[in-house]
Amino acid sequence: MKYNCLNPIAGVGLNLFTEQYNKTEDFNEADIVLVRSAAMHDMELPDNLKAIARAGAGVNNIPLEKCAEKGIVVFNTPGANANGVKELVIAGLLLASRDIVGGINWVQTVKDDPTVAKLVEKGKSKFAGKEIQGKKLGVIGLGAIGVLVANAANRLGMTVYGYDPFISVDNAWNLSRDVVHVKTREEIYAECDYITVHTPLIEDTDPSVNTKEMINEETIKQMKDGVIILNFARDLLVNDNDIEVALKSGKVAKYVTDFPNAKTANMENVIAIPHLGASTEESEDNCAVMAVKQLMDYMENGNIKNS
Ligand code: MLT
Repeated sequence: MKYNCLNPIAGVGLNLFTEQYNKTEDFNEADIVLVRSAAMHDMELPDNLKAIARAGAGVNNIPLEKCAEKGIVVFNTPGANANGVKELVIAGLLLASRDIVGGINWVQTVKDDPTVAKLVEKGKSKFAGKEIQGKKLGVIGLGAIGVLVANAANRLGMTVYGYDPFISVDNAWNLSRDVVHVKTREEIYAECDYITVHTPLIEDTDPSVNTKEMINEETIKQMKDGVIILNFARDLLVNDNDIEVALKSGKVAKYVTDFPNAKTANMENVIAIPHLGASTEESEDNCAVMAVKQLMDYMENGNIKNS
């Protein structure tokens, strides 16, 4: 069988398959598509298209309804990049608590200062931070990434509160009973020093299920003054205007996000990076391998398995 792969991701995983897979520029002839983050909503889907594999967790760049109408199977790679994202979230917690970036930039501006001792003396108090040990972290969304973040934060001495409407309380306790205290979203908002969101983007009229702009004026009001919010999941989970207002007033002390936007990216209390969560060699490799295996299994054996 001949496969045409569109937009093969750079991960080394694909190299494993280059002998079996015939890459071509001609999207219109594609039988299968392997895509990372490129938005496919406005693309004309090829007539032959049988399957799309999204090398990543979120499928909001895929036209799911159009695919369902045309009988195109859509795969994603849940969990394959979870460790990469988890590590960056932990870095985000630390960056929000210790002004490492400020310290590095400052050392560079004063590098003509003749003595290291003077530098250290000046910088020590200027960049004093806080420790995360003993602080409360709220994890909204206990999927592959949320659970890894919860475990890692717990090992760093944080008290972790978790919420997820799609797993039962029993399951949540069984998964990580010593680690995550299951709470409502409202309890998380009211009690946590840090809140990190790890849900897919879901637009639903039921507010317990809806995640679109779940961080907004109303929910921010319920949070502690000086809360630190992290978003490494999806841009639209947070209302841009409302987070900007809350950052200006200091209600939200810091916003750490993998989705920079023009409104907030330059603010002093924002740490914004260009969607790097899954951008590690290992995560790209894992996603590529999982996606290609799923596609092969479907095309060659008719199996539809998402892992
Ligand atoms: C994901 O949904 O897993 C991420 O968006 C992955 C990526 O950065 O490609």
